Amino acid sequence: MEYVLLNNGVKMPVLGFGVFQIPDLAECERSVLDAIDVGYRAIDTAQSYMNEEAVGSAISKCGVARNEFFITTKMWINNYGYEKAVKSINNSLTKLKTDYIDLFLLHQPFNDTYGAYRALEEAYKQGKVKAIGVSNFYPDRFVDIASFAEIKPQVNQIETHVFQQQKKAHEVLKKYGTQIEAWAPFAEGKNEFFTNTVLREIGAKYGKSIAQIALRFLIQSGVVVIPKTTHKKPVTAMKFQIRRKKKV
Ligand SMILES: NC(=O)c1ccc[n+]([C@@H]2O[C@H](COP(=O)([O-])OP(=O)(O)OC[C@H]3O[C@@H](n4cnc5c(N)ncnc54)[C@H](OP(=O)(O)O)[C@@H]3O)[C@@H](O)[C@H]2O)c1
Repeated sequence: MEYVLLNNGVKMPVLGFGVFQIPDLAECERSVLDAIDVGYRAIDTAQSYMNEEAVGSAISKCGVARNEFFITTKMWINNYGYEKAVKSINNSLTKLKTDYIDLFLLHQPFNDTYGAYRALEEAYKQGKVKAIGVSNFYPDRFVDIASFAEIKPQVNQIETHVFQQQKKAHEVLKKYGTQIEAWAPFAEGKNEFFTNTVLREIGAKYGKSIAQIALRFLIQSGVVVIPKTTHKKPVTAMKFQIRRKKKV
């Protein structure tokens, strides 16, 4: 596994597994166990995904030591404000069945982000959280929190993929020593992502899939990625089209 070094010295895998839109706890647990089986050691969940328990169960059952994992969760905006935030951090620790979380992010830049971030800073100092940061904080909101917070965000998780490369936001994050992390590195499969001609041609040249080319492009650009799938085996382009039609 390749790693990046966060601004506090914590090592973060460049590739993790996202569990957004897997609300069924049994399916989420099975997907995380499959991900662990193929080698993932970083898992990205959130309070709002309603599946922290399933992630915790998979990690505690899988037989791999806790310290080999990098678990990220995110605080939902209803839990912002210092006191509610403190409770919600403890709640996430319980659901994830762990005594520390590797990375805790504020999910969105709304409501009392200042109080919520103070609670993250406190949890960080207590060792309950090894790194803290934000998500969906685009440059204006990001610069505000990064300039005035006691602990600079270690990570900002924003929508980043080949169709939306976030070059400007990435430059701003670099100035503050904050690592960019891509949500939806496959553009959520939208806009014909998995049949994109340019990605397919590059893939043919290197003997890789469209998914592999898209992730490698981001990783080589210094972006941490957290793709999601509920399927252990890669699917062919034709099967993918059928799967998408069924979803619509
Ligand atoms: N911070 C935020 O606000 C935020 C927002 C969105 C997402 N996220 C995080 O980022 C993670 C990734 O983003 P995402 O889940 O929205 O989108 P994504 O990873 O860009 O794309 C996921 C979609 O691609 C499909 N897929 C995955 N691999 C495939 C392959 N090899 N061939 C064909 N289809 C494939 C999946 O379908 P199947 O599942 O059916 O395979 C799913 O529909 C999330 O799970 C979450 O952890 C964070």
